[in-house]
Amino acid sequence: MKAIAKAPGKAILTGEHFVVYDQPALVMAIDRFISVTVAKRPDTSIRISSTLGYTGTFEGEKFHSEQGGGAAQRILTPVHISASAVLDAVNHRCGLNINVDSEIPVEVGLGSSGALAVATVSAVGRLFDIAFSEPEVVNLSLEAERYVHNNPSGVDQTVSTYGGVIQYRKNQSAIRLEVESPLSLVIGNTGVRRETGRLVDSVRARRTRIPDVMDRVIRSAGVLTTKAVDALKSGNVSLLGELMDVNHGLLVAAGVSSIELDRLVHAARSGGALGAKLTGAGGGGCVLALVPDERQDTVSRAIQDADGVPIKVNKVEGGVHSWINE
Ligand code: PMV
Repeated sequence: MKAIAKAPGKAILTGEHFVVYDQPALVMAIDRFISVTVAKRPDTSIRISSTLGYTGTFEGEKFHSEQGGGAAQRILTPVHISASAVLDAVNHRCGLNINVDSEIPVEVGLGSSGALAVATVSAVGRLFDIAFSEPEVVNLSLEAERYVHNNPSGVDQTVSTYGGVIQYRKNQSAIRLEVESPLSLVIGNTGVRRETGRLVDSVRARRTRIPDVMDRVIRSAGVLTTKAVDALKSGNVSLLGELMDVNHGLLVAAGVSSIELDRLVHAARSGGALGAKLTGAGGGGCVLALVPDERQDTVSRAIQDADGVPIKVNKVEGGVHSWINE
């Protein structure tokens, strides 16, 4: 018997980083998914294989890499943490074979680690015939995110669990927004991988050095997200685009943009985007452009000409779901 769970990735429309400091963020589940398949095994080890090119087995404290060399342990540890969190919660000590199948590129800000944790928690729960509630999935999957950085906001796990478009604030219930206007979005991937934890730390360090300045930037970002939520609710997409442009400026002020990201942001704007910003932790990874429907191809080409990989994404309404395969 196998249990399978499928969870969507995400794109942050506004508010990344500032959400760590209790400001709201606006985030959307996107139509790129991670599937996790789990089966029991007779011993107590946890073997994880992944289409991302990493395979290895955790036996107690030890890790044996089979594929992906030294990086395998770092990449697969969050899966191990998520699976172990569920085994502890259901009070079982059995081994597992876990297979990860992902269409979300890793470490570029599209929520691959959040979706992976959420899908792992749901799949392992389902294997033991437990359908966790949405808040339980978020809570259990946060343990893995704490390994990635020690003060996660929970935004990635929340949107991957609930799906749709969400107004999120740390330690508060997520607010699902009913969005009438179709949002036409193009992502531009710089292809530069980065570690979320390092970037979150760098923002904290800047805030410690210049708290008066950074606290104002953080508060502005909170006001900006509130305005973005209103713009989205009233269908004012050009205002949402403008707010995304300003949000990029605030993220530049926080020190998390890069030459590659700025290049793609400007390329998207020149190609006719209503607004463009880095999305996720920054330092590399992706930009997100809000575009008029008829400009999707022009903006994609502009991103390509600026050495980015364009990815057209759509909103998905559903969050994680799981099932049993006999
Ligand atoms: O998962 P990433 O790299 O897209 O970043 C998550 C968003 C941050 O705000 C930078 C971190 C967090 O915990 O909210």
